[in-house]
Amino acid sequence: MAQRTVIMLGIESSCDETAAAIVAADKTIHANEIASQIDTHAKHGGVVPEVAARAHLEMIDQVIRDALANAGMTMADIDAVAATGGPGLIGGVAVGTVTAKAIAAARQIPYYAVNHLEGHALSPRLADDVAFPYLLLLVSGGHTQLLAVVGPGQYHRYGTTMDDAAGEAFDKCAKAMGLGYPGGPAIEAAAKDGNPKSIALPRPLKGSANCHFSFSGLKTALANRLSQLGGPKAAPLADLAASLQVAIADCLADRTKMAMARFLQAFPPQDGNQPVLVIAGGVATNKHIFTCLQKVADASGFRLSVPPAKLCTDNAAMIAWAALERLDAADDLGFAPRPRWPLDPEASPPPGRGVRQ
Ligand code: KG4
Ligand code: ZN
Repeated sequence: MAQRTVIMLGIESSCDETAAAIVAADKTIHANEIASQIDTHAKHGGVVPEVAARAHLEMIDQVIRDALANAGMTMADIDAVAATGGPGLIGGVAVGTVTAKAIAAARQIPYYAVNHLEGHALSPRLADDVAFPYLLLLVSGGHTQLLAVVGPGQYHRYGTTMDDAAGEAFDKCAKAMGLGYPGGPAIEAAAKDGNPKSIALPRPLKGSANCHFSFSGLKTALANRLSQLGGPKAAPLADLAASLQVAIADCLADRTKMAMARFLQAFPPQDGNQPVLVIAGGVATNKHIFTCLQKVADASGFRLSVPPAKLCTDNAAMIAWAALERLDAADDLGFAPRPRWPLDPEASPPPGRGVRQ
């Protein structure tokens, strides 16, 4: 009789989404549940770590129950359990880790600690047929990185941000403009009615010979223009949003072009296979950014692969999948949650200030 495909329960709780998913090794997503804390944090204009940890604690059991119910399964159908072990807000990561370890111990099944960034990095392989190695632009609220994904646990980082992440820039600028939280979708919506050429904003590091990013100066420039134009009540918010969106997209496209050259040098295409560029993380759902990167990919002969929105923003299916990618790894029961957990610990930091891992 054919062996039954492995069924993985995944748990994600590193930021402001409490999520549980059930994914099979054959890539069937049986359930992908997300309880968002956006309404809770919107009152504060951003994520408050202590509030987030308490909310994860309150919601996690129900989210897992919902995942099992929607999959038409019981705990007896689960073969292994995975949870985000970092990087992220430590209170939330601890809630997910302890829950997963408890399930693993009670059911006597394997437990996997998953790097949240690896969840994003491998998500295109759940949604699409993408072979290793590929070039990844990871753009989320906490990270903006360009990496070669060589295999599970094998990453070469070409660039990272010297200060704010792209999603963080969207969030902080939206807050300054009074557009609410989370900022990315709010800026994208406001930008629809705006003229992207109306307000001059800088493109930090554009044209520089490395693959790093910097968004803090852009955020300051926007804040200055906003106040010159009379603040959030008087300024043309649609024009500001459109101008900001193209500036961020321009920086992402320029730095990605630089990384493509490095990737092709390190991994020359074999047997006529087309190289692949993947964009993952919440910012990858932005349509203007997608269009810009599609142009860059076409011009450099890359195929662009972007997971569907539900797998791009934080979710537990990508956590379950990252564990399924390394099923044979040793059990992680001794693992302790990590607030910082770089994908490529060997990567040299960019010049300048503190570096995000
Ligand atoms: O990957 P994600 O859900 O969580 C993290 O791991 O950070 O990304 C969240 C980030 C937030 O900064 C949010 O503003 C941004 O992704 N984002 C967007 C859009 N949707 C979400 N940024 C630009 N345009 C969007 N449509
Ligand atoms: Zn994320």
